[in-house]
Amino acid sequence: MLNKPQSLEKLILGKLRAVLPDKNIVYALSEPKFNGRELSNLKQCLDTAWVSTGGEFIDEFEKKIARFTKIKYVTAVVNGTAALHVALLLINTKPGDEVLIPALTFVATANAISYLGAIPHFIDSEEKTLGVDPEKLKEYLKKNAVIRNNACYNKKTKRPIKALVPMHTFGHPVDLDPLKKICRNYRIILIEDAAEALGSFYKGKHVGHWGKLSILSFNGNKIITTGGGGAILTNNKNLAEQARHITTTAKVDHSWAYYHNRVGFNYRLPNLNAALGSAQIDQLPRFIKNKRKLARRYAQVFKTLKNQVQFFQEAEFSKSNYWLNAILLNPGEAKHRNKILNHTNRNNILTRPAWNLIHTLPMYRKCPRMEDLSCAKSLASRIINLPSSAFLYELSTKHA
Ligand SMILES: Cc1ncc(COP(=O)(O)O)c(C=O)c1O
Repeated sequence: MLNKPQSLEKLILGKLRAVLPDKNIVYALSEPKFNGRELSNLKQCLDTAWVSTGGEFIDEFEKKIARFTKIKYVTAVVNGTAALHVALLLINTKPGDEVLIPALTFVATANAISYLGAIPHFIDSEEKTLGVDPEKLKEYLKKNAVIRNNACYNKKTKRPIKALVPMHTFGHPVDLDPLKKICRNYRIILIEDAAEALGSFYKGKHVGHWGKLSILSFNGNKIITTGGGGAILTNNKNLAEQARHITTTAKVDHSWAYYHNRVGFNYRLPNLNAALGSAQIDQLPRFIKNKRKLARRYAQVFKTLKNQVQFFQEAEFSKSNYWLNAILLNPGEAKHRNKILNHTNRNNILTRPAWNLIHTLPMYRKCPRMEDLSCAKSLASRIINLPSSAFLYELSTKHA
């Protein structure tokens, strides 16, 4: 008698079990681990009462990020969204300006634009990087943008197109060189949303070097965490000084006077959080190594399912941190996505779909966008993120 072919959800669960074997463990998508100096750093904060917006760990953490990324100036802030908000403010984003972002991103990228009264303008992604498609963007701007007085304008809405904020999806770098060239040609400012990409390299250099500014997130689900936290990175000294000033209520430095020379934000990262971050970043090289090894294991086991799914792998110009591993269902299998999500979640493997495309959310439905967002739509229907915590690799080899 012929065996009935196994359903795709069962086949995928089988592959995942080869990497995540313990049925009693709930495998979350991305969990932090605190095996370094976290506790002693936190104790030091409590013992010295430096728990808030001053203290030595803030400076120490910022220096460590600068050393790791080789980006000169780092301002640690309360979260990645605040970092994006300030980065956009620093390039003088004004109400009514348009900012190009991928439709396939986390909602924070669009929200930060809205905080300034500016308007997100959605563009398509490419399958190779899961990020902004440079070729498509170039063609789109050729048809839809015009340069006047050294600034770029949307021909249809007549509004300025101020900036492009590409995002390094799940840690995988976008193709930055052509994007930078497009921005230069169209007088558009490039800001990198590298919230997910600490530890990712493009053509041998850490991401964040291509934008005028870039940002990171240290949310609990990121490759390192400060609880909540983020950072604004730049190689421009003047912008860095402004970032520091604006995020500390724009208080003019003085030993006792309270003088604030503009509307500022209380966005600086507290010392307690920086204490955690400083201990976490010491472990970053190990986290990256383990995440890359975990990705290799996933890639290996999914090879035999290649007619139905592919494990997403870094482009040839990247060295990714593999912050979140992902499989892409082949287009014909997209209809099975929810069944796969249900089946794996019921079995304690907490897979997740990609975000809803941002232009479909009620508050962004009327924003300008490329007519053809076909790649973003296709990706959103086919992506399934897999448990990716850095410690899972060590756990899985223990069971092997
Ligand atoms: C792409 C992207 N941008 C921005 C953010 C915002 O960071 P945060 O959650 O620290 O505000 C996140 C993550 O959470 C993100 O994934």
